[in-house]
Amino acid sequence: MAEHERLVSAGLVESEEDERDSSLRPHTLAQYIGQETLKRELTVYIAAAQKRQEALDHVLLYGPPGLGKTTLAMVIANEMQVKIKTTSGPAIERPGDLVALLNELEAGDVLFIDEIHRLPKVVEEVLYSAMEDFFVDIVIGQGPTAHPVHFTLPPFTLIGATTRAGLLSAPLRDRFGIVAHMSYYTQNELEKIVVRSAGIFKTVITPEGAAKIALRSRGTPRVANRLLRRVRDFAEVAQKKAVDDQIVVSSLDMLRVDKCGLDETDRKLLQTMINYYDGGPVGVNALAANCGEDVETITEMIEPYLLQIGFIKRTPRGRVATKAAYEHLGIQFVQNKN
Ligand SMILES: Nc1ncnc2c1ncn2[C@@H]1O[C@H](COP(=O)(O)OP(=O)(O)O)[C@@H](O)[C@H]1O
Ligand SMILES: [Mg+2]
Repeated sequence: MAEHERLVSAGLVESEEDERDSSLRPHTLAQYIGQETLKRELTVYIAAAQKRQEALDHVLLYGPPGLGKTTLAMVIANEMQVKIKTTSGPAIERPGDLVALLNELEAGDVLFIDEIHRLPKVVEEVLYSAMEDFFVDIVIGQGPTAHPVHFTLPPFTLIGATTRAGLLSAPLRDRFGIVAHMSYYTQNELEKIVVRSAGIFKTVITPEGAAKIALRSRGTPRVANRLLRRVRDFAEVAQKKAVDDQIVVSSLDMLRVDKCGLDETDRKLLQTMINYYDGGPVGVNALAANCGEDVETITEMIEPYLLQIGFIKRTPRGRVATKAAYEHLGIQFVQNKN
């Protein structure tokens, strides 16, 4: 099944459906649920920058897809009362593209670069001086007409988002004053997000119903919202007045999202590890070939949550399925001899 069709995958980019529901995005830090430590820090930095009438320090947000990086970038711009310009690493092909973007910024504005680890090297190098001293030097034209041009820029805030900070070069990482790791959301926070979104949809939901959706949302707001939308459809067809735990469980069972939020793809990965490799250790390349998934899909989409809930462990010799994974699949656990 293609990645974008997976109900429980947060995806690297938002689906059209997610996009349409931009009404679900919180606009202020107060509405932004969870990430409490980060919010507390940002509140201080934002207040300080505003008091000094300066641009906020550059911010790097890293963490798995669907945890609210794009949303937080927009919240930050809103709290700073500045405009935000949104782009992504692969979209900026040449230094000239970056200069064009930077040229449109006014003092204090935010430039948001999603997937910043995919910025071409030549562009990244131009970004260094832009971030540090608010100027860029580029060469315009080719051959004999080529000449260097110096641009001074208004002070701006770069917000970068990436799924893995490890993919970022050290010189780039070092130029962010605020580096924030986004963590998976707790059950309680996800319940609040589901209740809030149901309110926006004008859907009545019981606390037990919200709890059951939260439980299967893989710690991820985007997944929680997506499951809520699906369950709401089932409730409507069943002519239920409220989304309760019974309709949540029956509809998600039907959609084959299990009580840990795993779908067929997750279960297939675990089953492959257990059935073909005695639970591992197995290298990601072998695993990918055997499951028919590519390596990036496994490392970026499937594995992070399985690691988070302790169904997989990473060892120097490869991935290992844990006892909890065996138990979840109802397979007798045999202590690994490797
Ligand atoms: N802290 C939060 N509180 C409420 N809703 C959130 C929060 N974080 C994310 N969301 C919801 O989840 C969706 C996905 O968030 P997004 O910012 O696009 O994630 P990312 O950029 O990390 O992939 C958003 O549309 C928003 O509705
Ligand atoms: Mg995003």
